[in-house]
Amino acid sequence: MIMNRTACSLRQDRAREVRVYNSKVHMMGTTLNVYAYIVDGMLIDSGPHRMKAGIEDFCTQSHLNKIVHTHFHEDHTGNTAYLMKKLQVPAYIHSNSLGVCRDKGDIPVYRLVFWGPRRGFLTDALPPIIENDHSSFQVIHTPGHTQDHVVFLDKEEGRLFSGDLFLHPKTRVTRRNENIPLLIQSLRRLLQENFGTVYCAHAGKITDGYSLIRQKLTHLEELQGQVLTLFDKGYAIKTIVKKIFPETPTITYFSFGEFSSFNLVRSLIEDKVSENG
Ligand SMILES: [Fe+2]
Repeated sequence: MIMNRTACSLRQDRAREVRVYNSKVHMMGTTLNVYAYIVDGMLIDSGPHRMKAGIEDFCTQSHLNKIVHTHFHEDHTGNTAYLMKKLQVPAYIHSNSLGVCRDKGDIPVYRLVFWGPRRGFLTDALPPIIENDHSSFQVIHTPGHTQDHVVFLDKEEGRLFSGDLFLHPKTRVTRRNENIPLLIQSLRRLLQENFGTVYCAHAGKITDGYSLIRQKLTHLEELQGQVLTLFDKGYAIKTIVKKIFPETPTITYFSFGEFSSFNLVRSLIEDKVSENG
């Protein structure tokens, strides 16, 4: 009886272990890490198509039974169509993105070169709670990076799978379509939860994840204050960008401005303008 209980708890511990896939992409002096995770048969994000062989090996070594996505971007969904067919598993994403995932990804050239294409796939809407054999995850909607962004919280283990919510504690560039005030609200909402370790899709495992997410929130709140003070004094967006971020990062050039400090500042100002107007 005792033996059975020990075997059962070992099996449970093994199922709850986080298996980590990591690969790097190098381009034009920039290196980006990609991480995918499997816990208890659940793949969290399928990675970019460019990493198909590695991700496939990673998945076939585990007993995969589902794929869940933090958001629709091609570096998180690039292998879903292939894996669903090959491993006969269902996939889930926030209901906002069921339509966009049905079709082939509409991806700008520089991102196609970087990540590869994304085939369309049929997926179901994420439930509020994901029940696995030995674990359960709360799905928390955290819009800002994208409208459909979610994170997966394992309350029992105090760990969070954060997709692209965190990335870096000191945000300097954002995409054109990111909504930073919404991201700030999502970070505030998330910090009401109890968790320690964070598993980020590009920064990997972060043991002091809660404190780094709090640092990110503080950084964005301070930046927001700084930007709005300058805006109220009458400075133009470009001037505010130059004052706060005097150097233009390389990624801004090769993404043709899709990733920039300008986007970050503009998003904070647009929010203020729409509040007033
Ligand atoms: Fe993303």
